[in-house]
Amino acid sequence: MNTKTIHIKSFGCQMNKLDSSLVTAALAERGFLLTGKATEADAVLINTCSVREHAEDRVLSHLGHLRHLKKTRPQLVVAVIGCMAQRMGEKLLAHEAVDVVAGPGQLHEVPELIDNALADHQKRMHVLDNIRQPAASETIRDISERLDAFELAYDSDANHIKSQAFIRAMRGCNNFCTYCIVPYVRGPEVSRAPQAIIEQAGKLVGQGIRQITLLGQTINAYRYTAGDRTYTLADLLEQVSAIDGVRWVRFITSHPGQFDTSILQVMADLPKVCPYLHIPAQSGSDRVLKAMNRGYFAARYVDLIDQARATVPDLAVAGDFIVGFPGETNADFEATEAMIRRVRYKNCFVFKYSPRPGTHADKRLADDVPAEVKQARNARLLEVISEIAETDNRAFLGKTLEVLVEGPSKKPHLNKAENQDNPQLIGRTSSDYIVVFNGPETLAGKFANVRITKTAALTLFGELT
Ligand code: 5AD
Ligand code: SF4
Repeated sequence: MNTKTIHIKSFGCQMNKLDSSLVTAALAERGFLLTGKATEADAVLINTCSVREHAEDRVLSHLGHLRHLKKTRPQLVVAVIGCMAQRMGEKLLAHEAVDVVAGPGQLHEVPELIDNALADHQKRMHVLDNIRQPAASETIRDISERLDAFELAYDSDANHIKSQAFIRAMRGCNNFCTYCIVPYVRGPEVSRAPQAIIEQAGKLVGQGIRQITLLGQTINAYRYTAGDRTYTLADLLEQVSAIDGVRWVRFITSHPGQFDTSILQVMADLPKVCPYLHIPAQSGSDRVLKAMNRGYFAARYVDLIDQARATVPDLAVAGDFIVGFPGETNADFEATEAMIRRVRYKNCFVFKYSPRPGTHADKRLADDVPAEVKQARNARLLEVISEIAETDNRAFLGKTLEVLVEGPSKKPHLNKAENQDNPQLIGRTSSDYIVVFNGPETLAGKFANVRITKTAALTLFGELT
């Protein structure tokens, strides 16, 4: 029996977190024990992100620490998996600290690769050579099922009672936005069979899960053909929604190009489908959108959001924006600011353009917006987004909202006097608003009604009713 210990560190998006959870489940099945401390582990696994240079720098600096650690513990095995592994391959393998490199397409092999490295301390690498070739789709489909079939025995956030789970609906991306590394490291779009997803959702509900989030890089591109029927995201939402025990189902992330309005109709018709859309615009300037290869113009995006709001009452809209894309002028930036003011997002993530090797933008366009301009534009957008959210959130004052309680708040927001006897809990509404209130810890994982008494840009505060 293997009684090796492993420490896992995960960088990046929800998709990466899900991959980490699944690999952890696969490792546990092989007898590995989890440890919270790298200094006590036989092996360290790092799941990496390549979406911006900053994310890669953090991984490299972490590998620097591990190189030090290996000086005192030469038997330590370090495995690097995920997007950076796929992008950098040999370069990562050559790093002094690294023993195993495996790409997002090879995650099912990770336990065996680590076991072998623990036995012989040889370096080994497994990444897909031609990730965009049609043959790779089949490999990925096959692998995807083997990894995704693992039961999620592990919750990355141990403080919180598990009442929600992520299920992968699809992998990869075919959009090739010119700035983005994802299509190169995660490969082509591959949708999972609806039956596999439904079965998984059913099992999770049996374990007490009440909210399911379907994941995909461009989730609205979900398509699965079986016989003469093609299943879309709207069908999938309907099917998950029909499972007894599922209370809420949501999905991330949507692409605004070719957004099928049947998704909005399902959202409006089925009470379990959460009125929440994360639908990044990336820019409000048509010139920049074209250079980004986003496949839509600003007016079309705004129309889509208007239509969504007209169809789905109380819809919350979230987005992403990139500032400082090559050639972005003041006028382009102002168009983005105007779009944000027009759409009035619940919240947005703002990123400074980071050239990614191998992408079209990196090869063809100069990264010509100075760092300080990117910084200023980033700060400006965050200011505008926050000002809008602060104003709009006031509409919740005095209203009672249903929340799914996640658990105790890690950063108490209120002072002791207000904190009463009960701990401060954190919950989320179906439209993804964060609500902080005092209540018994036994509420974790359950639904509760909270009357809102105070609001801020990112958080609503209230009292249990
Ligand atoms: N530079 C900056 N931001 C990027 N994103 C993707 N690629 C880049 C890049 N090269 C952002 C997009 C995307 C989010 C996940 O990351 O806004 O929606
Ligand atoms: Fe990247 Fe664009 Fe695909 Fe999103 S849709 S993962 S931004 S290429």
